[in-house]
Amino acid sequence: MSYENILFEVNQGVAILTFNRPKALNALSPKTLEEVAEVLDLVKKDQGVRVLLLTGAGDKAFIAGADITEFQKMNPLEARQFAERGQEIFFQLEQLAIPVIAVVNGFALGGGCEIAMSCDFIYASDKAKFGQPEINLGIIPGFGGTQRLARLVGRAKAKELCMTAEMIDAQQAKDLGLVAKVFPAEQLMAEAGKVAAALAAKGPVALRAIKQVIDRGCDVDLKSGCALEAESFAVCFASQDAGEGVAAFLEKRKPNFQGTLTN
Ligand code: COA
Repeated sequence: MSYENILFEVNQGVAILTFNRPKALNALSPKTLEEVAEVLDLVKKDQGVRVLLLTGAGDKAFIAGADITEFQKMNPLEARQFAERGQEIFFQLEQLAIPVIAVVNGFALGGGCEIAMSCDFIYASDKAKFGQPEINLGIIPGFGGTQRLARLVGRAKAKELCMTAEMIDAQQAKDLGLVAKVFPAEQLMAEAGKVAAALAAKGPVALRAIKQVIDRGCDVDLKSGCALEAESFAVCFASQDAGEGVAAFLEKRKPNFQGTLTN
């Protein structure tokens, strides 16, 4: 399958989606968003894909935001549709059963920061820059930025970043808890690849459970979150992965997780 604005490859269970419009700093056009949606559908259906990485082509940008050239012709109704469609696709991404890592190699602004925040965690190059600069265009983030940023870094810091359009570097983003790890630019992809390979060898049932319990649990009270955890803990015990993991430990060998539930 070939696409106009993205590249997609799968190698040994690790899929890489690369935003590929370097001349426009990989800005997210409606066409790009639809290509992302197509890829997410493929990933969802393909049990061979165990981890997904998102990155940007070129050495300058991950994604420098939604494609601003599209905004001039948009009326309010179309703007709402654009925001809702973007949000829908980012929810699809967030709700994939597999781990998704944003590998941020440069500018992650506006929609770029928003899509990175929809991933499970972010690895950044020491050249990466993050921000929600929509205020400079007289608008606000539309792909979930106000909501996910506030949940990740707290309300006051999210307001400061969205109101001032301040761009922060990778280390500042790490200090805020937005970024999990920072790597020298030339090592970023290799380091992310190592973690992806390690995740691809872990139990898919437990990985999915961790993702769902943390994501859903953060939106409810502690007791309800712990109840979700206990349910998912039980589901893991109904998986062949749990049998295999425990047996492998006791037999002093590496587990071979398949991601299936017992009958
Ligand atoms: N949408 C469309 N095109 C974009 C873009 C975006 N979000 N961001 C950058 N581009 C384009 C530029 O227009 C320029 O195109 P050109 O070569 O045809 O003139 C090209 O990408 C390179 O960008 P440029 O601004 O020349 O690079 P720079 O290094 O001077 O600045 C940025 C980099 C990221 C600081 C700057 O491009 C920028 O502020 N981009 C917009 C960020 C933004 O507001 N995002 C939120 C959108 S809702």
